[in-house]
Amino acid sequence: MPSKKPNITEVVLRDGQQSLIATRMKTEDMLPVLSKLDNVGYSSLEVWGGATYDCCLRFLNENPWDRLKVFKKKFKKTKLQMLLRGKNLVGYKEYDDSVIELFIKNAAKEGINIFRIFDALNDIENIKSSIEFVNNEKENSQGTICYTTSPVHNEKYWIKLAKDIEDIGAKSLAIKDMAGLLRPNVGYELIKKLKKNLKIPIHLHTHSTTGLADATNLKAYEAGVDNIDTSISSFSNLYAHTATESFISMIYKDDENPFDMNLLTNIAEHFQSVRPKYVQYEGSMRGVDINMLLYQVPGGMLSILEKQLVDLNKQHRLKDLIDEIPRIREDVGFVPLVTPSSQIVGAQALMNVLDGERYKTINKEFVDLVNGKYGQIPGKINSKLLKKIDKNIPDNESENMTISEYRKDFSNFCKSNNIKDFSKKDTDLLNYILFNKESKDFYLSSNKNTYNDIVGLQEGFGLYIE
Ligand code: CO
Repeated sequence: MPSKKPNITEVVLRDGQQSLIATRMKTEDMLPVLSKLDNVGYSSLEVWGGATYDCCLRFLNENPWDRLKVFKKKFKKTKLQMLLRGKNLVGYKEYDDSVIELFIKNAAKEGINIFRIFDALNDIENIKSSIEFVNNEKENSQGTICYTTSPVHNEKYWIKLAKDIEDIGAKSLAIKDMAGLLRPNVGYELIKKLKKNLKIPIHLHTHSTTGLADATNLKAYEAGVDNIDTSISSFSNLYAHTATESFISMIYKDDENPFDMNLLTNIAEHFQSVRPKYVQYEGSMRGVDINMLLYQVPGGMLSILEKQLVDLNKQHRLKDLIDEIPRIREDVGFVPLVTPSSQIVGAQALMNVLDGERYKTINKEFVDLVNGKYGQIPGKINSKLLKKIDKNIPDNESENMTISEYRKDFSNFCKSNNIKDFSKKDTDLLNYILFNKESKDFYLSSNKNTYNDIVGLQEGFGLYIE
């Protein structure tokens, strides 16, 4: 047993609620326990990411940067962490380095200390600039391995990728196992080897979907992992993570436990009390899902596809769809399935099944994936598929504007709609660049959710009600 215990990152405010209630938790339901969370002694709190940013603007009528301001004010002791999709930032398409730099500068300024940076294809070129910009801000750049299983994804592949991530300047490494595929003994061996080959700290992030997470986290501790991600008990398990209190109980004897279990119980009770408000967003899975081990399909992806089939009145085709996903994945060189590759492969699988013919219709995004526009494909692309793809499909990438062009465009939008000119503030401008349509609706809305009264922030905060 290693003498050193791993640090713990609490993920309830981002991934816990993302995995269990589709990221719908409002800031007001987090506020009552923020000070308590700050007192637990977590190494960090994961609080922000693509889905939280998107959902704030799209569904909750909240400015994601306002939420971050609340966190910065309330969390005085604990580091704040976010998940960043490399060049896609918190969105779904690639942004220019000038936008990436502006985003990271502002996120660091507003309180993010640890940036967990991933690329769906594990193409190091797609995370390089983000790591550099985070290092320039003197914050923790955490390079990420998106874990998957396939004939090309072996231990040698992961060690080389991890070394490359260290070599480009990442300050820590995360193993991100979004579908819960990492088996306990495989994880143990992998972490042992990574600890031997790397100098930077290793974080493990796995999901409970397949029922392996508790054992995998425990074995990772035995292998000497530096940090484990957990979610408070009332937002744990199913599609989410090992429960914080359970993991602490696994690694500490009662008389040496540095964590205040009563405080954790208080926090768990709060989240238990808010969870029923969001019952409509809970997934349908009960227990664990073994399909995931067989098909490498992340839980979130499967539930979205299931809903799409129900909407089309084609729910009887679900099994065909589940069978089609690993076939497509093999055709495109075994890409890991995580945003955006999970959406792209899922949409193509849906088309193949509904058309009754494979690749009769091909999505533009799928063509781009095959043509390497999203990054380097890990394995080989099926030659028959390559023939079907017209390599000369024109690239309609005309919307890439410079920062000042975006600012002018946003300013014109505000003027023409007779609202305050929000374009001057970088964080508002970033909303406009990253989620254009949602931001337009947000800034035009007169009943935005703000929290200035609750937390007593003044200048420059919560001023959108005009
Ligand atoms: Co996750």
